[in-house]
Amino acid sequence: MQNNSTFNIGVLVSGRGTNLQAIINAIERGSLDAHVALVISNKENIHALERCRKHGIDNLFLDPKNFNSKETFESAIIEKFNEKLVNLVCLAGYMRILSKKFIGAFRGKIINIHPSLLPAFPGLSAQKQALDYGVKLTGCTVHFVDEGVDSGAVIAQTAVPVLEGDNEETLSQRILEQEHILYPQVIQWIIQNRVSLLGRNAIISPERNS
Ligand code: GRF
Repeated sequence: MQNNSTFNIGVLVSGRGTNLQAIINAIERGSLDAHVALVISNKENIHALERCRKHGIDNLFLDPKNFNSKETFESAIIEKFNEKLVNLVCLAGYMRILSKKFIGAFRGKIINIHPSLLPAFPGLSAQKQALDYGVKLTGCTVHFVDEGVDSGAVIAQTAVPVLEGDNEETLSQRILEQEHILYPQVIQWIIQNRVSLLGRNAIISPERNS
């Protein structure tokens, strides 16, 4: 059920959607006071869309090939999210870089989760980058999205140790477990108006007792 005080999330996905599932689960168990208003994918037949169907969540596959430019493709996403009165756009494994236009349309209202402790290892294969570099500690980051690649203000991070004998799969799996806790938590802080930007620093204010 939606009412005026509903906090609407629009989610962009391109793949399996385990972070989307973590958001859905948090809502269903009552720890996240949001409504997933619409999930949009740029890929057809992905598991993320199946998850939506299973949970009765509105979802849409938009094929970039049917648009003559990135601009028109993203205009369609903006329109769909606006129709659904989306308050926050969550990237959850969305594998395209957003244009300036899209970021401008939802300025300060787009967040992403990335599997490293940013600013270390931005971009693709962050877990492999961490293993190749030989760091002993990596993790995940929820950050605001700006015009760069994984360069927006960091909101929250969880550290995950790199263990002896870790490979890309084992490390990714342990980071993913933390992503699933961190992402819904940060969304809930945003809903509670506890996340603000001071310059490029995202500040989390303490919970108010009501
Ligand atoms: C996650 O590792 C996330 O950090 C990154 O893409 C992956 C998406 O996984 N941005 P999933 O589709 O949520 O399972």
